[in-house]
Amino acid sequence: MRGIIQGVLWCTIWCYCMASSQANLYKGYKVYELAASKARSANLDFMLSQLANNRTYYDVYTSGSPAHIMVHPDAQPQFVDLMNEQAVNYKIINNDVGHTLRNHYEKNQKLRNLYPFEGRLGTERYYTHDEITQYIENLAQLYPDRVFIRTVGRTYEGRWLKTIKITNGDRRANKNVILVDGGFHAREWISPAAAVYAIGELVENYETYADLLLDYDWVILPVVNADGYVYTHLNEDTRMWRKTRQPSSESCIGTDPNRNFDFHWNEEGASEDPCAETYAGPKAFSEPEAVVVRDLIKSYAKVGKMYLTLHSYGPYILYPWGWTLDVPDTVEDLHEVAQAGYEAMFNATGVEYEIGPSTEVLYVAAGASDDYAFNAGFPISFTMELPPGGQHLFDPPASDIDGLVKEAWIGILAMARKVVEKYPLA
Ligand SMILES: *[C@@H]1O[C@H](CO)[C@@H](O)[C@H](O)[C@H]1NC(C)=O
Ligand SMILES: *[C@@H]1O[C@H](CO)[C@@H](O)[C@H](O)[C@H]1NC(C)=O
Ligand SMILES: [Zn+2]
Repeated sequence: MRGIIQGVLWCTIWCYCMASSQANLYKGYKVYELAASKARSANLDFMLSQLANNRTYYDVYTSGSPAHIMVHPDAQPQFVDLMNEQAVNYKIINNDVGHTLRNHYEKNQKLRNLYPFEGRLGTERYYTHDEITQYIENLAQLYPDRVFIRTVGRTYEGRWLKTIKITNGDRRANKNVILVDGGFHAREWISPAAAVYAIGELVENYETYADLLLDYDWVILPVVNADGYVYTHLNEDTRMWRKTRQPSSESCIGTDPNRNFDFHWNEEGASEDPCAETYAGPKAFSEPEAVVVRDLIKSYAKVGKMYLTLHSYGPYILYPWGWTLDVPDTVEDLHEVAQAGYEAMFNATGVEYEIGPSTEVLYVAAGASDDYAFNAGFPISFTMELPPGGQHLFDPPASDIDGLVKEAWIGILAMARKVVEKYPLA
């Protein structure tokens, strides 16, 4: 008897340890924040790019200001030395990424049981790709006169990608279009959440937004990189995945779908290294998910007035160009619309989204979808980076979803209203 109890106890401990040892890829990793500085030295920028290339030991979450870097336990002493040498002030903002990811994963599992999917999506937890797809299909069934689902392609792993088109049901054709997508980068979970919230508002409260649906239809693809998004839901070790899931070399997987567009493809800010987080792909549009967005952009190029791609984290509203330091001739229009979003959100919550050209606010990133859409004819094209959250920044806790997506929606609304005013139906 005693033996059995001991055996059970032993197994409980052993099995638990095995489970943890199988899933502790990020044990002991830390995230460092480097002190913000407007006049940051070129030296530090160079150093950050070096670290970004050293993927075994470093993951540069953002090289913006402040920069955030996740560092492997073995590299931490060296990293600290380097920072001291360069006289860069830093602080540790996550002491054990593995621990945080595990807690986060367990909490998500609990919430999943607490709030099972029943056809509707709220803001109480993060949703899977299947749930999101099911949700938009349900909406189309509930409101067949106003809401339309279209299958627009398949991912590398064969998942169907579907857009939801939201109208006011008057059946007038050839309206202007606002095109929104989310989930380009797998780990940016708040992005699909924001897209889903926008969908819910526009569909369920459409009378409130009558002005935004009179001469405009909205087309939304909530999860572009569905394979990656599904992968980040598997367990805590996969939570930080960013790219697609198509093998990129013998030993690495994934291309950055937001460096895969055929507009200044594979120029600055994109990597030729198949293992890098910003790998541009073997050729432009090598990723079926990028092809899907390309085809959407092309099909709405004439009537599309705003393209909005949702990412995290910033908070930023970024406009073209991303490939060059030059700004477009129409920079004032872009800025005016972004400013409307900024003000509305600032008024509502006090959040300060930074607005400006991608290259100025963030970094050069050629081959991205916003540049592509702008070049294709969308007069307004933004990357909206929602705020960071949680202890590894890409993981706002579920309790923060509601505030973040509502805040973002206030900004999106204000931008859409400005767009409707500036670009009336021809
Ligand atoms: C990568 O970083 C580690 C730890 O800081 C260092 O030992 C190694 O030399 C670096 N490798 C390259 C290629 O820079
Ligand atoms: C923000 O608040 C200011 C001051 O109350 C007001 O003048 C402005 O119109 C508001 N802007 C938006 C976009 O709500
Ligand atoms: Zn992103």
